[in-house]
Amino acid sequence: MDLFPLARPLIGLLDPETAHGLTLQALRMGLGPRPRAADPALLAVDVLGLHFENPLGIAAGFDKNGEVPDAMLAMGMGFAEVGTVTPLPQAGNPRPRIFRLPAHRAVINRLGFNNQGHAALKRRLEARRARPGIIGVNIGANKDSADRIADYEAGIRAFEGLASYFTVNISSPNTPGLRALQNRAELETLVARVLAARKGNTPVLLKIAPDLGPDELADIAEVALAQGLDGLIVSNTTIARGDLVSGVHAQETGGLSGAPLLAMSTAVLADIYRLTGGRLPLIGVGGISNGRDAYMKIRAGASLLQLYSALTYEGPGLIARIKRELAACLEADGFAHLTDAVGADVT
Ligand code: FNR
Repeated sequence: MDLFPLARPLIGLLDPETAHGLTLQALRMGLGPRPRAADPALLAVDVLGLHFENPLGIAAGFDKNGEVPDAMLAMGMGFAEVGTVTPLPQAGNPRPRIFRLPAHRAVINRLGFNNQGHAALKRRLEARRARPGIIGVNIGANKDSADRIADYEAGIRAFEGLASYFTVNISSPNTPGLRALQNRAELETLVARVLAARKGNTPVLLKIAPDLGPDELADIAEVALAQGLDGLIVSNTTIARGDLVSGVHAQETGGLSGAPLLAMSTAVLADIYRLTGGRLPLIGVGGISNGRDAYMKIRAGASLLQLYSALTYEGPGLIARIKRELAACLEADGFAHLTDAVGADVT
């Protein structure tokens, strides 16, 4: 994300990962925009046992090491998800591994869970412990782990008491074999072990891919309900390329996010809402770049929203704009409160 509109043409010329590093550095130094205005009451959401002043969160991957969650909250986000974090530090894939596709308002990444590991994130979250704000911790597995499920259990143990909620990320396309954990038998074992690793009742959500077929979605919905998962995040990036043909980077290997992911991830969200009978809180993520996109995710069954890619194109002013436009969409359709619109399009 680019904090300085005047520098945007220059930042756009930088390698995306370099630009991202500069952004994090600026945020760490407190160079973010002005303090946030209060959110309109109709955007408040009570879900997962937490009170969200607005439904918009920063998606995982922006702040993998928990360096700037409070800056994101100060910019107007209703919550911040940090990670994905793995037990051991990990370098990820060789660079370049993030590609902008400006004509499509899209990003392709194949980072491969580059992160500083549990201990570094734990130190940072402990240092901000007294501060308010909802911080989700997105946990993953090391690429070379002999027992990947054990890595998720370790994530729960490391961050219980520091995380407002957990996201179990089994949907990154950039760790070979990871998405196989979404298959029914593996998923049952994973969810059982992860929930058993919990001492208290911090909510645990599962983040799924948008590339799943109807049978896989039905299995996930059944397992989630049967085993008592607290919610689902729909979705991660896609390995599909849709009608993306133009642009030098369109065929890079990795996960595609941004505008081309919107329709696909919103359709999967509606499927999951239907399959779970609206009984599980859902976080809708994928391609949101304006208030209308956000509103359509709510109507497709999301109680909360996340975004990442559009911020890299639009900058932090996008956060206030989406909230304003979302509130206007709700009011125009006569909804007194966001939660009244959840799933309105799902029959
Ligand atoms: C991601 N995303 C991601 N998701 C996750 O669960 N763990 C991660 O570490 C990352 N890393 C990551 C890096 C980069 C550069 C991007 C662009 C994305 C996926 C992200 O959280 C989100 O699910 C998708 O990007 C879809 O949302 P947007 O970007 O279309 O709003």
